[in-house]
Amino acid sequence: MSLINEKAQSTIQPHGGSLINREVHGAAREQLLKEAETLASITLNPWSLSDLELIAIGGFSPLTGFMNESDYSKVVEDVHLENGLVWSIPITLPVTTEQSQNLNVGSRVALYGEDGVLYGVIDLEEKYTYDKQKEAQLVYVTTDVDHPGVKKVYEKGDVYLAGPIYLLNRPKHDEFVDYHLDPKETRQLFADLGWQTVVGFQTRNPVHRAHEYIQKAALEAVDGLLLNPLVGETKADDIPASVRMDSYKVILENYYPENRTRLVIYPAAMRYAGPREAILHATVRKNYGCTHFIVGRDHAGVGDYYGTYEAQELISKYEAELGIQILKFEHAFYCKTCENMATAKTCPHDASEHLHLSGTKVREKLKNGESLPKEFSRPEVAQVLINGLKEQK
Ligand code: ADX
Repeated sequence: MSLINEKAQSTIQPHGGSLINREVHGAAREQLLKEAETLASITLNPWSLSDLELIAIGGFSPLTGFMNESDYSKVVEDVHLENGLVWSIPITLPVTTEQSQNLNVGSRVALYGEDGVLYGVIDLEEKYTYDKQKEAQLVYVTTDVDHPGVKKVYEKGDVYLAGPIYLLNRPKHDEFVDYHLDPKETRQLFADLGWQTVVGFQTRNPVHRAHEYIQKAALEAVDGLLLNPLVGETKADDIPASVRMDSYKVILENYYPENRTRLVIYPAAMRYAGPREAILHATVRKNYGCTHFIVGRDHAGVGDYYGTYEAQELISKYEAELGIQILKFEHAFYCKTCENMATAKTCPHDASEHLHLSGTKVREKLKNGESLPKEFSRPEVAQVLINGLKEQK
């Protein structure tokens, strides 16, 4: 079958060849904890903290720290790191100009969370200013402040700190502890399960019927599915991760074969950068050990900023360099005549027969207190969402 890449193995190499691990243990950790008491410090917001975690656990391999100016510029302008590896989104540590004035290049800086916990340190090799308009335009393809990712760019500090990091304490994901695996652990898991080919699925929404359709279409051709929902910062009107996690558990229990699916959190922040973010999402899943990655309609998009297949078009340009096989799916819908999910590739009927669904539509219906028809959502999922959102109120 054409979806299967014979060469793809579960031993897929991490991006850049080796899985990064910047977590420090034992005596070295004790020493750094002590040293940190004497260091200048900054407080990371949840976004930067999740970036720190992903660098440390190897999700962002080959990055060993926050990007310096030459990598940053190359990524923004040319979708590559200085060393030639494809990389699509800057991973940077912003601070205000005032904060940066108290931090000396060549020194070590302690990194605290908003909860007061010391999470790590950075060896400050560089600090630099950057052009926000340019970053917004090239990465997000718009300078519109209504775009949630662009808004973040404009809100953040004017100076980026760069250098290798060390993680001293793990950010806690207590709610999801059973589903919290590092890339080295998912790689081991796939090997233990005997999965040679694994398709990664990114989502920030509850799994609706279109998601299920494309996941299962992919699963027909590979050994396993890694359902890898993003649980870091999302925009306020997205469904909270805790409610979504309950919905994933219930759909997996009821509609997926246990030996062919695993649920693992992806602790990153959502950028809503559409095409550029699709590339980042694929890169990270490669580091988690996936051999395949799904990009459907308007991947990581928001509003009307990106065309339906723009993410697929951009990622196609870099697919060979990325080294993970991208499974591209057309817009899936429910066809009343087929009485089934389909896409324009598989359904001959008139558009009037098609029920289009998206995460946005699901959220709208839930907000308006409407029920979710079975063509939209599995009833068990709908119930979890209705209950979960009621409790949130
Ligand atoms: S995303 O921001 O995480 O991409 P979402 O959770 O809605 O949003 O999508 C997860 C994946 O499913 C993405 O690859 C997206 O392109 C795909 N997808 C979502 N809805 C559909 C649909 N109706 N048809 C085809 N692909 C879809």
